Amino acid sequence: MKFIIDDANVEAIKNLYEFFPVEGVTTNPSILAKAKKHPYEVLGEIREIIGADADLHVQVVSKKAEDMVREAKVICEKLGQNTYVKVPTTREGLKAMKALSKEGIKITATAIYTPMQAYLAGKAGADYAAPYVNRIDNLGANGVEAAKKIHDIFKNNGLKTEVLAASFKNSQQVLELCEYGIGAATIAPDVIEGLIKNASVTSAVEAFTSDFEGLCGKGKTMENC
Ligand code: G3P
Repeated sequence: MKFIIDDANVEAIKNLYEFFPVEGVTTNPSILAKAKKHPYEVLGEIREIIGADADLHVQVVSKKAEDMVREAKVICEKLGQNTYVKVPTTREGLKAMKALSKEGIKITATAIYTPMQAYLAGKAGADYAAPYVNRIDNLGANGVEAAKKIHDIFKNNGLKTEVLAASFKNSQQVLELCEYGIGAATIAPDVIEGLIKNASVTSAVEAFTSDFEGLCGKGKTMENC
């Protein structure tokens, strides 16, 4: 499962790229609004950090299919080859996906709350479909189960579309989808940090250091003991 950063904070992205095995960035209009910069300025900075080969997902804002298609082309022109255009999975969005896939533009179908939306997006040519796991949970349904079902629907119907699960609030939601072999997950920086935070690990590592320093002296390691 690919881990992707769901954020547009340049410092947070740099930091996560240094420490975690992440492979791209997703944004949406609300995420871009939080960055408080011109959208193409911040997206250009993100592209610089992640490199030309990494996946960058950028959402169209237009409502009508024809406008979405024009907007998608501008996004790709400005941000390069490995840019996925996120298209909300509405009636107009499906029309735009059909047109964009014919032109070879990479598509992430977004705002997915139901497996049927995902199936239609797959048939319309989307490369990824993004179910909103936690938001589905908040509606009283099961977001993890919905993402698994979508994965199965794609595999059982021979569609090339992969699940790009989104909207996570905790490690357990992510882990359950890793276990299932979902294609990708896009995760906010605080949830990515939470994937490795564990007081027992911290205390085990501290005990190793203190025992070794008891043997060889403060600051000593296997390099300089
Ligand atoms: O792009 C969709 C995803 O970012 C939604 O996440 O945390 O706003 O539910 P969230």
